[in-house]
Amino acid sequence: PTGSVQAKSASALPDEQMPLPYRTGFTQAPVLKPYAVSRNPDDYEKKINYYSVTQVAATASILPNKNLLTQILGYNGIFPGPTIRVERGTKAYLRVRNQMPATDPRAGHLLYSSTHLHGSASLPQFDGYASDIVHTRFAKDYEYPNDQPARTLWYHDHAVHNTAPNVYSGLVGQYHMHDDLERGLLPQGRFDVAVTISDAMFAENGELGYDDNDQSGVYGDVILVNGRPWPVMQVQRRIYRFRLLNGCVSRSFRLRLDTGDPVLMVATDGGLMPRSQEVSQWRHASGERYEILIDFRNYQPGQRIQLMNLSNDNNVDYNHTDKIMAFDVVDSPVDTSDPTWNTLPIELDPGNEVMALKSSDALIRRHFRLKRDDRTNMWTIDGQTWADVVASNYQRIVANPELNSTEIWEFENSSGGWFHPMHVHLVDFKIIGGENRANYAYEQGPKDVVYVGEGETAHLLMKFGPHRGRYMIHCHNLPHEDHDMMVQFRVGTAALEPSENDPMKAGP
Ligand code: C2O
Ligand code: CU
Ligand code: CU
Repeated sequence: PTGSVQAKSASALPDEQMPLPYRTGFTQAPVLKPYAVSRNPDDYEKKINYYSVTQVAATASILPNKNLLTQILGYNGIFPGPTIRVERGTKAYLRVRNQMPATDPRAGHLLYSSTHLHGSASLPQFDGYASDIVHTRFAKDYEYPNDQPARTLWYHDHAVHNTAPNVYSGLVGQYHMHDDLERGLLPQGRFDVAVTISDAMFAENGELGYDDNDQSGVYGDVILVNGRPWPVMQVQRRIYRFRLLNGCVSRSFRLRLDTGDPVLMVATDGGLMPRSQEVSQWRHASGERYEILIDFRNYQPGQRIQLMNLSNDNNVDYNHTDKIMAFDVVDSPVDTSDPTWNTLPIELDPGNEVMALKSSDALIRRHFRLKRDDRTNMWTIDGQTWADVVASNYQRIVANPELNSTEIWEFENSSGGWFHPMHVHLVDFKIIGGENRANYAYEQGPKDVVYVGEGETAHLLMKFGPHRGRYMIHCHNLPHEDHDMMVQFRVGTAALEPSENDPMKAGP
């Protein structure tokens, strides 16, 4: 078991109103169209896409009883927010307008926001730095270089001390970056499926409930996939690609198919793995993305395959959190127009730069202890919190790697009862084992979140670039992040130039 808190609250919905598994259809968020496209003046061969989203309070019909509506916060009023789809090398500008009410109608806090594109090596002033907040009726333009290998990214709110309630209320969306290598290997279009998994609890009137169990974790008893409870998707007898994002505030999963058949893992947080891995189950924590192929060719029409969860955070005995979604195999003709319909690739990105890093290249090894402070009850990284960063006027750092240098970072979870999905901004890393921790097949790809289980120490190898500046390190269990398990590092030992991307100074 991970976690020692017995969650107090679950949905207060009467039994007959409670959503049940596999009664809703599967949907995906719409793809966001750029409102303008221009040539990139720095490289006339390339383009710039201009996008805009507006953060608003809205109502959603999540529950099967259509009279029970749920207030959410959403990018363009929907949960999850629209999917952004870009080509590697095409720069993107995203204007985020904060049109939310000044205070959260449910939680009562101020609804300022900061938008982070998780998985992007953005400049600091565009990275959604927690304290770089945008108040109601203001907007901010974010610039995303999209120079990294193809991957599944996601954008979400990162506002200091309010990230958990804001993400829980719906401020989440997927962002897909494509490139030629990925396109040649993996299913595209309608066979390339976004799956954002989250959990929620509901009050009797249909509104979201919220309980972070003394700032330790929010555990909903209803599993949502793309904002709908336990949906069923109809599938043809072919290979599909699923981009699985754990968008839960706290809950982690151990996923598997109920058939016992393995899935083919093809990509991790930072994109394609060097080679695909057959995996029959995997831990999947908040913030992590795993792309899998499921081969439906050998199943019979009419057969139902379930995606199941074997883990039960905090020993909460909730009824149906062992189920995520189901696939119903249909008897319709199979779309074979693309070779990926029946190809299970073995070699993917054998030359991946992150996975080619060698421990012997690392000049510095740093060790961080993850722990709850007994006196203040705050979650800490090496005894430090975001409050220490703020008190230092955003100067305090826990590491200062040189630009383009390689280091080994160790995260040690020595405090009993909790796991911490640790996220390092800016870089992708290679997990090189650790203590009390296996080298899992499903982690043999570039990552930006590492699951650090109870009693485990994870060792990460990473190269710091492509630019200098200050970036956050935090736990992706969001109540931990908010209270106050977040610190920062700075790439580049020389003082930053004024022009050089200070997150707490205005960008260009
Ligand atoms: Cu997905 Cu710093 O966050
Ligand atoms: Cu991130
Ligand atoms: Cu944590």
